[in-house]
Amino acid sequence: MKQVKVFAPATIANIGPGFDIFGVALYNIGDVVEARLTDSFKGVRLAEVTVASDSAGVKDMPKDEGNLVFPVAKLIYEAIGNHEVGVEIRLVKRMGIGTGLGSSASSSVASAVAVNEVLGGILARDSVKMLAAVIEGEYIACGSRHADNVFPSLLGGLVFVEDAASFKFKKFGVGKDAFFVIASPDLVVSTREAREALKASPYNIKELVRFSSSTVKRFIESGTGSRFNAQIPDSVVGSGSRSVVKAYIEGTLDVLSGLLNNDVEALGRGTLKDGIVTPVRAKLIPGYDAVKEAALGVGAKGFSISGSGPSVFAVAYKEDCEKVKNAMLGAFERHKITAKGHISAVNNNGALVVE
Ligand code: HSE
Repeated sequence: MKQVKVFAPATIANIGPGFDIFGVALYNIGDVVEARLTDSFKGVRLAEVTVASDSAGVKDMPKDEGNLVFPVAKLIYEAIGNHEVGVEIRLVKRMGIGTGLGSSASSSVASAVAVNEVLGGILARDSVKMLAAVIEGEYIACGSRHADNVFPSLLGGLVFVEDAASFKFKKFGVGKDAFFVIASPDLVVSTREAREALKASPYNIKELVRFSSSTVKRFIESGTGSRFNAQIPDSVVGSGSRSVVKAYIEGTLDVLSGLLNNDVEALGRGTLKDGIVTPVRAKLIPGYDAVKEAALGVGAKGFSISGSGPSVFAVAYKEDCEKVKNAMLGAFERHKITAKGHISAVNNNGALVVE
């Protein structure tokens, strides 16, 4: 009977400032789910989980129906409502866990797309049922319904998440000049804990997400030509500094216009302007400052944490990527940390049926 194999890419969420509102899809790193129709049972079964990664964290991942690919697959199966056939799924876990590259998102998205495809591709990629299922996967993984990994993994390109709760987003294709150089240290940082760490922030992070989202939305609607001049609400600043919030918001606009205009300098500059979320989380990554300095020292234009870490990324022109990667890995090594390097432009495709 029919079977499909789906690859869902890794993602860089936040992209410096842009906590919970920006994410881009990457090439080559990602998870794979195979789905097969069967008439020997009805419903969904998880037949196998194969681990194809030697990264820290994977060994503790559930290999049974406690794995998030299973509930996500069930949500899609039920949303489609074809209960005459069964679907058997297999996860090939190629990514590490707790990497900051959207590992759980890749699994959720691969599962949702594979089940949908094997059942005839009834749901549109951007349908509420599809978006809701992959967000649910994220909630199962870390207790939060953020969409800045799952949406770009599903849809590709740059995704601006206007409001995850009401499934509002915009996807943009990105030009070829901006490259991301990623260093993934062999450490595990749980997204749940990295989000908890933000509760001690002097800034009101929930309000910050709301304000940055509405500012970015206005910027897009005005044709991305306007600069930021809105009043920053006191509720965002909390007991923090207004100028830090201002820089953060300007950073979101630099990141967006940099990606949309293929402007590597603006993108890079933007990634460096987060004085709110990144500094808290950088403390969870040994060697962070040294790795950043090493990357910027050999020509990188920007640098930050990928998602909730511990992976970090630099922004660079293509011709500088190899030396930036070596500088980052070397700096981690000097801190006695093994890390893997990866270079990628933005993947405008998102999840793909590969067989
Ligand atoms: N925006 C999320 C966070 C992404 O930073 O917690 C997690 O990968």
